[in-house]
Amino acid sequence: MNARLLIDTYISFFEKRDHKQIINSPLVPIDDPTTLFTSSGMQPLIPYLLGEAHPQGKRLVNVQNSFRAVDIDEVGDNRHTTFFRMLGNWSLGDYFKKEEIPWLWEFLTVELSLPEDKLFITVFGGEDEIEKDTESFELWKKIVPAQKISFAGVDKNWWSRSGVPKNMPVGEIGGPDTEVYFRFDDIEHKKECKDNPVECECGKFLEIANSVFMQYQKTDKGFKELPNKNVDFGGGLERLLAAVEQKSDIFQTSLFSPIVKAIEREADLDYVKNQKAVRIIADHLRAAVYLIDAGVFPSNKERGYILRRLLRRSFDNLGQADVENIISAIVAECAKTDKTLSQNFEEIKNVILQEQQAYKKVIKDAEKIIGGAEENGTKEINADEAFKMYSTHGLSPTQIKSLGYIFDEQKFADLMQEHSKKSKTAGAGMFKGGLADHSELTIKGHTATHLLHQALRDMFGTDLHQTGSNITSERVRFDFNFDRNLTDDEIKKIEEIVTSKIKENLPVHFEMLPIEKAKGIKAMGLFDEKYEGDVKVYFIGDYSKEFCGGPHVDFTGKIKSFTIIKQENLGRGQKRIYAKVT
Ligand code: SER
Repeated sequence: MNARLLIDTYISFFEKRDHKQIINSPLVPIDDPTTLFTSSGMQPLIPYLLGEAHPQGKRLVNVQNSFRAVDIDEVGDNRHTTFFRMLGNWSLGDYFKKEEIPWLWEFLTVELSLPEDKLFITVFGGEDEIEKDTESFELWKKIVPAQKISFAGVDKNWWSRSGVPKNMPVGEIGGPDTEVYFRFDDIEHKKECKDNPVECECGKFLEIANSVFMQYQKTDKGFKELPNKNVDFGGGLERLLAAVEQKSDIFQTSLFSPIVKAIEREADLDYVKNQKAVRIIADHLRAAVYLIDAGVFPSNKERGYILRRLLRRSFDNLGQADVENIISAIVAECAKTDKTLSQNFEEIKNVILQEQQAYKKVIKDAEKIIGGAEENGTKEINADEAFKMYSTHGLSPTQIKSLGYIFDEQKFADLMQEHSKKSKTAGAGMFKGGLADHSELTIKGHTATHLLHQALRDMFGTDLHQTGSNITSERVRFDFNFDRNLTDDEIKKIEEIVTSKIKENLPVHFEMLPIEKAKGIKAMGLFDEKYEGDVKVYFIGDYSKEFCGGPHVDFTGKIKSFTIIKQENLGRGQKRIYAKVT
């Protein structure tokens, strides 16, 4: 069974159980202010898990491209990747544990024919104010011997986007989960541990499936039950394939092995002797290919910075090797499931090659600094200067010292730590609170964004469209395609249009429309060409129609004021506006 067949088998298994397939949402979320990347299948579904009606019903299934920048430093072992595809099925207040658990078992053991003796289960054992999940335990006991079921606390069997309950911001949703692990018999136990995935740290067990019972929302007074008891299942395609093919190293599955072979050939690296380097190259370049396909370009900020880090780390491990044939191998393999990769191949390749040239120049400049310092002898510099050499020229602290520079090494280490924390936060989600922030001001900001979008199109034509947005209670941030600065008069005019629409106190409502109809009435937004179901379109009076998940104010008059604070140039023909609403 290959990746394509595994996906098809999963989707049709759940379609036969009345699930509707939903779109694979863009890797760069269009209308989610909370995060840089789509990092799980549930992320685009948050409004529906919180209780809104989904146009396609209460039983959903899909495969979602996902990227987790927080895992960058984990890549190099036999199981971690930054980019992965997640198989997901959801119940939005429909079925619950007694259906999900037997279905999951049937899928794994009948459809995928995984040997039962290699599968192990974990269940939430209760912690703090949240009770033990005895219901799941009892359901599993009907399927597997009780000794194969282990209990664990919030560290292992609780899922939310921010991790354990105490790290969840107010508004965030989460719940206990039950997980299935696959035991690889080719990996030896390194120490005395039982056949228990909760205790074993020898790498013998791989988590392949996670059913979250998404039933809580954090409030400032503790947890409250969500209106619906939801199921949020996620299973990493790469890991499921590893179990199906019984490869304890996911980089040796049929999905990765052609890529690994191309790296071995082009970089003259023997996989067995250079596992870590080859895995980093394979994962990072594959992730980069998907990010560029999703419209990200290397830069020093946010998404672009993460892409730059992935690429430069791959180049460091590749040495002088030609990257072009490796990209071809990645695209050839991944286009079997994601066709746009081959359509955008030239663009993807060019972005990577340009970044490689830019990186070569950075290294050359760094070498000049080293050479100059050697001529001038020892010199004392402050830690900030030393850190700049590290962050802009890629020089390690050891290289800087062998320049003859002396600096406060403790302060340098503190700066490094701060830097790494920042980039981790950027990857995990800029605002940990997630959509949780459905505060009054954020909702007003969201409606104001629709007005702003339409006002910009009124002024500059309908080729102008949104390329991103990010809304907090402090400010609205809106990105769009535009290749020059707005003049002061233009900014004033935009503010005037938005303010006049606020003053008109226009009603805001949504309708579920068949996608063709939504396109027909020229609702703004990105539509997936393959998608055939209904979409949610928000109307602001007769002024704006936009494909959107909500939520919004019910009348524009709820917004008191709208002011543009500043504009920024994002490069590549993109502009960013910051605005404030009250
Ligand atoms: N949300 C869970 C995860 O991402 C299950 O889908 O693992």
